[in-house]
Amino acid sequence: MTTLVLEQYWPLPLKGGGFIFKLMHWSNLCAGGVKEMKLNNLMRAAVCSAMVVSAGSANAADQVEVLHWWTSGGEAAALNVLKGDLESKGVKWADMPVAGGGGDAAMTALRARVTSGNAPTAAQMLGFDIKDWAQIDGAVGDLNAVANKEGWDKVVPTALQDFSKHNGKWIAAPVNVHSTNWVWINKKALDATGGKAPKTWGEMIKVMDAMKANGITPLAHGGQAWQDATLFDAVVLSLGNDFYQAAMIDHDPKALGGAKMKEAFDRMAKLRSYVDDNFSGRDWNLASAMVIEGKAGMQMMGDWAKGEFLKANQKPGEDFVCIRFPGTQGSVTFNSDQFVMFDVKGSSAKKSQLSMASSVMSPKFQSAFNVVKGSVPSRTDVPNTDFDACGKKGMADLAQAGANGGLFGSMAHGHAAPAAVKGAVYDVVTAHFNGQYNSAKAVKELVSAVAAAK
Ligand code: BGC
Repeated sequence: MTTLVLEQYWPLPLKGGGFIFKLMHWSNLCAGGVKEMKLNNLMRAAVCSAMVVSAGSANAADQVEVLHWWTSGGEAAALNVLKGDLESKGVKWADMPVAGGGGDAAMTALRARVTSGNAPTAAQMLGFDIKDWAQIDGAVGDLNAVANKEGWDKVVPTALQDFSKHNGKWIAAPVNVHSTNWVWINKKALDATGGKAPKTWGEMIKVMDAMKANGITPLAHGGQAWQDATLFDAVVLSLGNDFYQAAMIDHDPKALGGAKMKEAFDRMAKLRSYVDDNFSGRDWNLASAMVIEGKAGMQMMGDWAKGEFLKANQKPGEDFVCIRFPGTQGSVTFNSDQFVMFDVKGSSAKKSQLSMASSVMSPKFQSAFNVVKGSVPSRTDVPNTDFDACGKKGMADLAQAGANGGLFGSMAHGHAAPAAVKGAVYDVVTAHFNGQYNSAKAVKELVSAVAAAK
């Protein structure tokens, strides 16, 4: 069995030219630990994919190598539940973290790994990216042996199966369901506004105005394309289920280019006015920390944010409040983290892979993991007993939305459109959020960007 290379020499550029070499742990680099080097995510992804290699660990007998982007405090705590579960079954965990919320950098690293003939055992992946990998001959594995034995077909909702299966074959194990149309509010800051949790757009504006008057940043936000797009998901949904369906899923040019879309961009501009000056490039978990510490009033973010509040020992209802983005109660924009399994070689490696898939899908694990992660189980038969109030609400909302035609794939998180269309929407939303053009121009740009990407 090959072992991981634990340390690598990493070249540091010197002012007068040339390089010095610094000894460092590759996993520190891949987890985003080398801030002073100002690595951008793409550089990090490329370096990490080259560095981890020597292992051939994907095929090592008793271990699984897993590529993921769970590097924040709350995410790491959830991941530890999975590592612990596997280790209790004698399966070792070889970690390949690639920092970068939303997973774009992780997907770049994954492509480099697979292209160089060194696929990991499994990779965290979202929606349409899974469909893309499934098309590539011989790339992904086959989980049918365990899926059929354990009856996954009967307990995983079809909205998820649509991504986990390709031509009747299970290729991925869905570990959770997140939803993106949440608002996380600091309870003291809300109480100080004298108001209740807002239910409508108008009420939310009043609460944010009051927070501003109280001297805090109303909206904690990180200016990264995927975070801007997460706000956009919620804003579009708040203008109606039919509108979300037509614009984000059907890409109907009338919806993309109409008056409602102009209103959506106007709302985005209004939200931008409640963000602090230093928002550009801020990681999502640092925005969560602003709310946790009371420096900001609220964050509009998927329920992975709850993992950060829990990690900071905060309690729903006491320290923070979770509500659906005003105007979206009853509807849910979802994404699901799935572990796509690659075609590993050798019977022992395959056995470890199936063992990981089986662990991920066990009801007990799904409860333990999702309680920490902030998400809800990907199976419908897991009791809500161990979940806190926000988790119970998440499960009930999901079931209600599913039953009433209010459940939609999240555009921001890869469940509404293939990567090219998602990227086109990101570009327009971010350019508008950063004031590069007004709402009327944004609407026009959106129509042409989506048409060009299709
Ligand atoms: C993933 C979450 C993750 C979040 C922030 C989302 O796309 O589904 O699991 O916590 O990105 O990184």
